[in-house]
Amino acid sequence: MHRSFQAQPITTKLILVAKVDRLDSAEIVTNRWLARLGAGEVKGMIDTKMQAALNEQLNAEYYSSYLYLSMAAYFDSLNLKGFSSWMRVQSQEEHAHSLKFFDYINERGGRVSLSAIEGPPTEWESPLAVFEATAAHEAKVTGLVNKLVDLAIELSDHASNNFLQWFVAEQVEEEASVDEVVQQLKLIGNDTHALFMIDRELGARVFVPLATEA
Ligand SMILES: [Fe+2]
Ligand SMILES: [Fe+2]
Repeated sequence: MHRSFQAQPITTKLILVAKVDRLDSAEIVTNRWLARLGAGEVKGMIDTKMQAALNEQLNAEYYSSYLYLSMAAYFDSLNLKGFSSWMRVQSQEEHAHSLKFFDYINERGGRVSLSAIEGPPTEWESPLAVFEATAAHEAKVTGLVNKLVDLAIELSDHASNNFLQWFVAEQVEEEASVDEVVQQLKLIGNDTHALFMIDRELGARVFVPLATEA
């Protein structure tokens, strides 16, 4: 005798009951957890000093993103579309860096805290002045990343040290690519034809989203 594979009818009521049950238990767990948090029992896995420093760096990366967007606007005002596009991509990269810190703080059981982003400059003297300012800014960021690594080592926070090594390598790359443009701009001097050649070259850069771990 063949048995029928016809699905048993499930009433909407049953589904609703199951959902409410799940919600109830989730609520109980959350309430218990909040109560323990209030009592100071639940501690983040990350050191508070490190958490504060990572949040500061998250803000610094946002500032970088804002700064480069301001530089993109400056290049737009000069009708240098390739330079502007390059800066916009740079801005997107810095935003992605901020989110990398955001995710890491959360991953470590920390608390992300966003603070005001300083307003960037809006005017520069020349394309060269912009790239020199970019180089100086990246050197400053490298210093901040190095200080974070120092703190991770001081706290024996190997996970943060490992996380930060990605930024150490990224800074080497960024400083080198910015310096390349600084050198090119120094070389061409006031040659506008060469400037438009560089503009075209820089315009080819595209934003590549950061690889996400599986
Ligand atoms: Fe960055
Ligand atoms: Fe950067």
